[in-house]
Amino acid sequence: MMKRGVHGKAGKKVLIEEYLSGREISIHAFCDGEHATLFPAAKDHKRIFDGDKGPNTGGMGTIVPVSAVNNRDKKEIEQKIIIPTLSALKKRGYPFVGILYPGIMITKDGPKVIEFNARFGDPEAQSYMRILETDLLDILLASVRGKLKDVNVHWNNNYACCVVCASDGYPGNYISGKTISGLDKISNKDIVLFHAGTKIQDSHILTNGGRVFGITATGRTLNQALSKAYGATKIISFPGMFFRKDIGK
Ligand code: GLY
Repeated sequence: MMKRGVHGKAGKKVLIEEYLSGREISIHAFCDGEHATLFPAAKDHKRIFDGDKGPNTGGMGTIVPVSAVNNRDKKEIEQKIIIPTLSALKKRGYPFVGILYPGIMITKDGPKVIEFNARFGDPEAQSYMRILETDLLDILLASVRGKLKDVNVHWNNNYACCVVCASDGYPGNYISGKTISGLDKISNKDIVLFHAGTKIQDSHILTNGGRVFGITATGRTLNQALSKAYGATKIISFPGMFFRKDIGK
């Protein structure tokens, strides 16, 4: 990599960091510059193949909440990661307003930060939207106005999952323009599809990207949510549709 200069100037310097081994989770927090309201923990599945094999993708599926993340971990993430980050940004004159999304590794020494994103995770957001009870706009407006403390953000007690259906070949080369069928055959209101790489042409919905859509489902248990989402993969399809079979496993 360095010999061929594949990263240009940025690749001339190497930073050696502690290797973080453990369980990777996604944490999100609404932030109003000073206060933060944490979401329940989410789990993304970033590799293309089952068993976390193959190249990284944008994310092949999520579950929410992650029962394995305990209250002590959540408290530590809030007190040692989110709040100090907000305080430091405010002190530097850049109060952060929006969604803070650190990727976290739960190690044997507790939660550690892998990266920070200043946006929703995709496909974490798809699962989150299925269990968020409070109006998203109210929360966002309160964040912008510095009044997050006045909003009681409520998540219902269901589990939600999202199974991403991708074009065969993603994250490498793939062919778009395949007709998607079965979209009108889903009547269970617990199942909602979020389109990502699709387009309408001559009244047909066609594939138009690597990650084509995410099938979300909710249930009283994680298994219920998963079986509804995987059930929908038998109804909705397009030629070359690929998805992981082990989301939430
Ligand atoms: N799900 C990974 C990301 O949004 O970066």
